[in-house]
Amino acid sequence: MKFLLLLMCLCLTDDANSQLICSHQPITALAGDDVILQCHLEPPISVSDETVEWTRPDLDPKYIHFHQDGRLMFDHQNPSYYLRTRLFMDGLMKRNVSMKIFKVKVSDTGRYQCALPSLQKEASIQLIVAQSDVIGSDKPVTVTVGDNAILPCHLEPPSDMRTQTVEWKHNVIKPSCMSTRNRKDYLDLQDENFRGRTSVFHEEMIRGNISLKLTNVTELDAGSFTCNVPKLQSQVRRGFINLTVEPEESRNKGGQTDDIG
Ligand SMILES: *[C@@H]1O[C@H](CO)[C@@H](O)[C@H](O)[C@H]1NC(C)=O
Ligand SMILES: *[C@@H]1O[C@H](CO)[C@@H](O)[C@H](O)[C@H]1NC(C)=O
Ligand SMILES: *[C@@H]1O[C@H](CO)[C@@H](O)[C@H](O)[C@H]1NC(C)=O
Ligand SMILES: *[C@@H]1O[C@H](CO)[C@@H](O)[C@H](O)[C@H]1NC(C)=O
Repeated sequence: MKFLLLLMCLCLTDDANSQLICSHQPITALAGDDVILQCHLEPPISVSDETVEWTRPDLDPKYIHFHQDGRLMFDHQNPSYYLRTRLFMDGLMKRNVSMKIFKVKVSDTGRYQCALPSLQKEASIQLIVAQSDVIGSDKPVTVTVGDNAILPCHLEPPSDMRTQTVEWKHNVIKPSCMSTRNRKDYLDLQDENFRGRTSVFHEEMIRGNISLKLTNVTELDAGSFTCNVPKLQSQVRRGFINLTVEPEESRNKGGQTDDIG
């Protein structure tokens, strides 16, 4: 009974007072991601039979997703979005006109317009799709046995790596140094040599910093490391960092020969 009343209230809401609200923040994504461009009517009104137009005014044809009579009208759609879009209008109160785009490309970057022509509602939302490369270091990292090393690796241009899988490997010690995704480290494939000695800077991942910290370095660690973002759809998905490990004696020697040269 309460439910019915609620429904009636919602349906009686004046259409003219309802606003179409899209996310004000630009949506940023990496090439290959799926994104949802969030737009909804507030307060909710039923839009079950309405035409919903998602367009990009800078394109010709401009229609990204043209929803009419309860379905997508393919013949209006810009071909580069073919089979890559969907709406979520299957709820009871179809106030949610968000559009999902699958496998975004750099060329999907732009301002998207969402319109409900019969209600004269319109709003827009910005999508930015970046294609980042993985950059290691062209200078070797040099540390002394027993010290900690930071193997630098980052995304250029910077992009949020929190939901991406990042893998670290060593050229000799197989199979894996470490991998991480969504703040969780996956260590089941990690070689025993690295056990308890690897970490990444999770709070730095949002800025695309995927550097590895290796503690208590041993001579075995010397070699070439790679950092890899497998799902990245860019040219450079892998960075290389060479690690040079100096024996502990060199530290003492270094101290004694400080004044020379
Ligand atoms: C709209 O639907 C999408 C996909 O299910 C969901 O992620 C989003 O949170 C919904 N938005 C609102 C305002 O309900
Ligand atoms: C790393 O070491 C390998 C083998 O010693 C060498 O071929 C490569 O050029 C080095 N790379 C860098 C970036 O220093
Ligand atoms: C990544 O984070 C580490 C730890 O805070 C820092 O030492 C390093 O300089 C950062 N690298 C980049 C490219 O920002
Ligand atoms: C560092 O590694 C060595 C063996 O390589 C071990 O004997 C030592 O206890 C380790 N130190 C720390 C602080 O874990």
